[in-house]
Amino acid sequence: MRVLFIGDIVGRAGADRLKSNMKKLVSDYPSDIVVANGENINPKNGITPSEAEALHFAGVDVITLGNHAFRQQSVYAFLDDCPYIVRPANYPSQSPGKGVATVDTPKGTVAVASLAGQVNLDPADNAFYAADRIVNEYKDAFIIIDFHAEATSEKKALGYYLDGRVGCVFGTHTHVQTADERFLPEGTAYITDVGMTGSSESVLGAKKDQAIARFMTRAFVPLEQEESSPEINAVYADTEKKQIVRIKL
Ligand SMILES: [Fe+2]
Repeated sequence: MRVLFIGDIVGRAGADRLKSNMKKLVSDYPSDIVVANGENINPKNGITPSEAEALHFAGVDVITLGNHAFRQQSVYAFLDDCPYIVRPANYPSQSPGKGVATVDTPKGTVAVASLAGQVNLDPADNAFYAADRIVNEYKDAFIIIDFHAEATSEKKALGYYLDGRVGCVFGTHTHVQTADERFLPEGTAYITDVGMTGSSESVLGAKKDQAIARFMTRAFVPLEQEESSPEINAVYADTEKKQIVRIKL
C-alpha cells in the first residue's frame, strides 16, 4: 500500500499551500490513499462542512481530526453523515461522528482511524484497548492509525503495541515533525509526529508574538493563526517497497 499522510493543516495558509501543491505531491508520491489531519483548518480551529468538502475535492480521501474535532458546531451532523471524516474512535460513542472510515482501493480496503492520546489531552478512553477493538473489527483491511497525542512516549508505545497488526501508526497533534520515520520490526510504518501544514514562522501555527506574550504574562492572550511562510509537512510510506520518507514542501 502507498500512503500519503498530510500533517495537521492549520488555517487558510495551510489549506492554500496544500491545494496549490497537491498535484506535485501526488505526482512525486503516487499513492493509493491520501489522508490529512484537518482539525485546525478553520481560522478558529476545528473544521466546517465546506472546509472538509474542499479538502476532499482537492484529493484528500480521508480527513482525520483530534481534540479540536468539535470546535465548530456546524460540523456535528456532517460528522455523522459524511463517510470520509473521522473523530477520535476512543471518544464516547454518543459523540458526533465516528472513529473509523473505510476506503476501497485497487489494493484492497483501507480503514483509517483516529485515536486520541491520554496524556495532557481531554479525557478519552484508553487508546490501546480502542486500537485492539479496531484491529479486531477491521482485520481484513489495511489499517492506518492517526494517533493524535501529545506525549512522544505514548506514541512510541502505541506504535510498538500495534506493530505488525496495522499498516501505519502516524502521530499528529504536536505540529513539530519528528525525524524518526521508520518501519518497526514487525513491519508497521511509523513516525512519532508528521508535523504541521501551516506557517513555518509561527508557534505551532499561532502568531509568535501572541504565543510569547502568553508564556511571559500568564494573561489570556487570544491566539490568531499566522499565515506567512506556509509549508507542508507530510509522510509517505510504500509498504511493499519498505520505503518511508518525511516530506517538507
Ligand atoms: Fe490537536
